[in-house]
Amino acid sequence: MSTNRIILFGANGQVGQAFCAEQIPADWELRALSRAECDITDHRTVQHYIKEFHPDIVINTAGMTAVDRCETEHDEARHANFDAPANLAAQCAAIDAMLIHLSTDYVFDGNAGNHAYLPDDMMNPINVYGESKMMGEEAVRHSHPFSVILRISSVFSAFGTNLLTKMIQAIETKDELRIVTDQICAPTPAQDVARALVTISTQLLHGKSGGYGIFHLCGAPPVNRLEFAQAMMEAYAPHTTRRPIILPALSSDFPGFAPRPAHSVLNCDKIREIYGIQQRPWREGLDESIQVWLHKRKQVA
Ligand SMILES: NC(=O)c1ccc[n+]([C@@H]2O[C@H](COP(=O)([O-])OP(=O)(O)OC[C@H]3O[C@@H](n4cnc5c(N)ncnc54)[C@H](OP(=O)(O)O)[C@@H]3O)[C@@H](O)[C@H]2O)c1
Repeated sequence: MSTNRIILFGANGQVGQAFCAEQIPADWELRALSRAECDITDHRTVQHYIKEFHPDIVINTAGMTAVDRCETEHDEARHANFDAPANLAAQCAAIDAMLIHLSTDYVFDGNAGNHAYLPDDMMNPINVYGESKMMGEEAVRHSHPFSVILRISSVFSAFGTNLLTKMIQAIETKDELRIVTDQICAPTPAQDVARALVTISTQLLHGKSGGYGIFHLCGAPPVNRLEFAQAMMEAYAPHTTRRPIILPALSSDFPGFAPRPAHSVLNCDKIREIYGIQQRPWREGLDESIQVWLHKRKQVA
C-alpha cells in the first residue's frame, strides 16, 4: 500500500484542530503544522517543509481571521491571507502537489437579497479581511490549476475563539447581551469542514475528475445572529443556571467594527454534486460542539 502524504498548515486553528481530531484514512501520513512550527508568511520555512515532506496534498487552514483587526492591520492581513497562499500555490505547483485552500463568504458584499451565493458569483468584499481573502483566492487560482478553494462561513467549534465559545463566555459572565438582527449567516461546524476536507482529499488522491475549482460549504438553515445566539443559549442551557437576557440590536449600534455582509449565505449545490458532500443542520453540530467543549472543560478542571 503506497502512502499519501498530506501537510496541513494552521493546525492550532479551529478547523485545523477539528481536522486533526478526525479519523483519517490508514494510508495517509499527516504532517499538521501549527504557527509555532511554521509561519506561513515565512516563505523559506514553508519551502523547507514542502521540499522535505514532499506532500501529495497541502491543506491551508491558516490565515488571519480576526475580521476587526484586519481593518487596522492591513499588512498582516495581506501577508497571511494573500502573499502566503500565493507562495503556497507556487510551491505546490512546482512539485505537482494539490492544494486545498480555505476561504470565506466574506468575499461577497451580502447585498444580493435572499440569494445564496454560487461559487462563480462576482466577489465584492466590503472589509479588509474579505479583500485579503479574495486576493488570496485569485493568487491560488491563477498560479495553480490543481487547487481547490473551499469557501466556508461563520465557523464554530469547541476550539479557540469563535461564535460558540464567545457566546458561552458571555452567558457565564453577562446579564444582558445585545445581538444584531440585520446580519443573516449560515453557521458551519468546524468538524463538518474537517470532514469535507478529508472527503475532498480522498477523492482527489483517487484521481477525481472535475474536482478542482471553487466550492462552497455551510450549515443549514440561514439565521440571523440573534436567532443563532438564542439557539446557542438553548443548546447550552442544560449545562448552566445562567439565563442572560438577549436584546435585539442593529449593526449600526456597534460603530467601530468592520462592516459585515448583511445576507451571507453560500449555495452548496456544487460540492454535493461533485463530491457528494451534504449540508448538515448546524443545530446538530452545535450539540456535538457543546459536548466537546464540556469534555475539554472537565479535563482542565
Ligand atoms: N472562523 C470563521 O468563521 C471562518 C469563516 C469563513 C472562512 N474561514 C476561513 O477558514 C480558515 C480556517 O479558519 P478557522 O476558523 O480555523 O480560523 P482560526 O481558528 O483563527 O485558525 C487560524 C489559524 O491560523 C493560524 N495563523 C494565523 N496566521 C498564521 C501564520 N502567519 N502562519 C501560520 N499560521 C497562522 C492561527 O494561529 P494563531 O492562533 O497563533 O493566531 C490559527 O491557529 C481560514 O482561512 C479562514 O479565513 C473562517
